[in-house]
Amino acid sequence: MVRFISFEGGDGSGKTTQVKLLERYLVSKGMACCSTREPGGTMLGRMLRKALLEVGKKEISSPAELFLYLADRAQHVQEVISPAFQQRTIVLCDRFSDSTLAYQGFGRGIDLNLLRRLNRLASCDIVPELTFLLDCPVEVGLSRIRKQVAAGRLSDASAGANTRKGQDRFEREEVEFHERVRQGFLELARSEPDRVCVVDALESIGQVHERIRKVVDAKMKEIP
Ligand code: TMP
Repeated sequence: MVRFISFEGGDGSGKTTQVKLLERYLVSKGMACCSTREPGGTMLGRMLRKALLEVGKKEISSPAELFLYLADRAQHVQEVISPAFQQRTIVLCDRFSDSTLAYQGFGRGIDLNLLRRLNRLASCDIVPELTFLLDCPVEVGLSRIRKQVAAGRLSDASAGANTRKGQDRFEREEVEFHERVRQGFLELARSEPDRVCVVDALESIGQVHERIRKVVDAKMKEIP
């Protein structure tokens, strides 16, 4: 049985869609389940998300960026994730601590061991029991986002993080940054193969969902 499942991957990898599909599936099986995300799973988090992702005139320094993600996580764990566990609700989280390692660690170059310690503090030592890494080439993810923007379906319109003109701050980073993030995620997956399941995000939405569903079904049958 698993109670905490996170979804990770580069921008445009389709995590958000898969979180919703899995939530619908688990609810249809009569399970208590909720979905949430980082950054932005609480009211404070939504303010932080806007500050983090909005394309502003001023750059945010890497340490400031890191502390904002950690602040979002600390509040999210206290306000949403821990209470859900107490109610025996399965939590599906669109990004969690691995994103900090991939983006701020592999992407920005902040020391990974330091990040692991800070992650533990922010998350009260909570670690997902199962993580799906949706992996696809950087260019594919970025071009999906460009298409959404061109079609007027902004990748994050609901949170107001994007400007009407286009992508958010991360989506505007150069391809090399996203490549470091992708390779970082893959390295994390290799180091924890029992927890992190890599899914080929080039497959159709239905195929990806099917793969995720099978893994979750099998895990739910395991004795705790
Ligand atoms: P999203 O668009 O997938 O919701 O994610 C928002 C952005 O925040 C995405 O580009 C990845 C970034 N991010 C970090 O850099 N560090 C973190 O710890 C988290 C949770 C997200």
